[in-house]
Amino acid sequence: MDRKAFVAAGLAIAAIALGTGGAGAEDTLKIGIVMPMTGTLAAGGREISTAVKLYMAQHGDTVAGKKIEVIIRDDASSPDNAKRLAQELIVNDHVSFLGADITPSAMSMAPIATEAKIPTVVMISGTSVVTERSPYYVRTSFTLGQQSGIIADWAIKNGSRKAVSVLSDWAPGAEAGKVFEANFTKGGGQVLDTLKVPLANPDFAPFLQRAADLHPDALFVFVPAGQAGTFARHFAERGLDKSGIKLIGPGDIVDDDDLPTTGDTLLGVVTAGFYSAAHPSALNKQYTAAYQKASGHRANFISVGGYDGIHLIYEALKKTGGKTDADAVIGAMKGMSWESPRGPIAIDPRTRDIVQNVYVRKVEKKDGEPWAMEFATFEAVKDPLKEAAAK
Ligand code: PHB
Repeated sequence: MDRKAFVAAGLAIAAIALGTGGAGAEDTLKIGIVMPMTGTLAAGGREISTAVKLYMAQHGDTVAGKKIEVIIRDDASSPDNAKRLAQELIVNDHVSFLGADITPSAMSMAPIATEAKIPTVVMISGTSVVTERSPYYVRTSFTLGQQSGIIADWAIKNGSRKAVSVLSDWAPGAEAGKVFEANFTKGGGQVLDTLKVPLANPDFAPFLQRAADLHPDALFVFVPAGQAGTFARHFAERGLDKSGIKLIGPGDIVDDDDLPTTGDTLLGVVTAGFYSAAHPSALNKQYTAAYQKASGHRANFISVGGYDGIHLIYEALKKTGGKTDADAVIGAMKGMSWESPRGPIAIDPRTRDIVQNVYVRKVEKKDGEPWAMEFATFEAVKDPLKEAAAK
């Protein structure tokens, strides 16, 4: 082989190895997912990336004749990083889709997605307003309001009248507290105090002591994914699991990723949540088994936002015949409904937000481990803050 031919052969091999270049480039679609792989909310990044990879291993990496390439970038739980990474993914990597993560990051990426017209699936954020920040945002995660209103109504129905709220001090915590208080007071209850716990490295002990001193009959708590284990430990250390005060909240406080480490502390705790690894459907049994095998962890409520997020992109591409034009893609996504491991879900065509069942669950021991066991179902729940605003 002469030198020129040798170089050409080398370049061809390099192009194949990269999976791009030559005729293949236009047949490859890139999805850039910005996630907290490190930092305060790193658990969420790990869970989404496991679920996305699992979905692609199960469903292949080709859809509508296009090869799908996923690029995951770590924003270290920082909104400034998220914005920069979204820009780089669009300009340098030419992604056709974005995946957005926690509320502050999703907020800061929104103007970039709007300006570049990139369809973006919100896979973690649980605050209502996020989907209003860009016409190209569609959510597959949840809102705190969806769950917090339902648990307030349940508490009232079961005799609670005096509550204290303990909330992680950032947007989703504020929203959980707001919706809980609105429903709880409407039902004749009173929120005696609202205590805000720092998001980073939280020490719940002083807040729990103050809450106990107010002698409520219920403690409404929101902590984000990754903090339920620490919370349960501090809760037990104060003896609150034996105080008779009912611990209630959205599903985050009984996060399946942490539940196996909480011993007996959370037994009997009732939450309103959209996902439990114990959800009794055939699809969920398959999902949890495959997730456990792939990661060594129990599947949790964050993971399904990633699993359903990538599904939504696949199904939208099938509908558009592989076209990635933002208006066509968002049009395809609006109104789509399917069965998720969490149960039936849909994208509200008016708000681009998720519509899903919310289950009331009680933590019980099964095969030696605690699980959130569903005992009541509220079907097709929309984000209550958007519904109230539309009235
Ligand atoms: C959010 O980013 O809004 C968020 C993250 C984790 C949670 C709940 C909400 O557990």
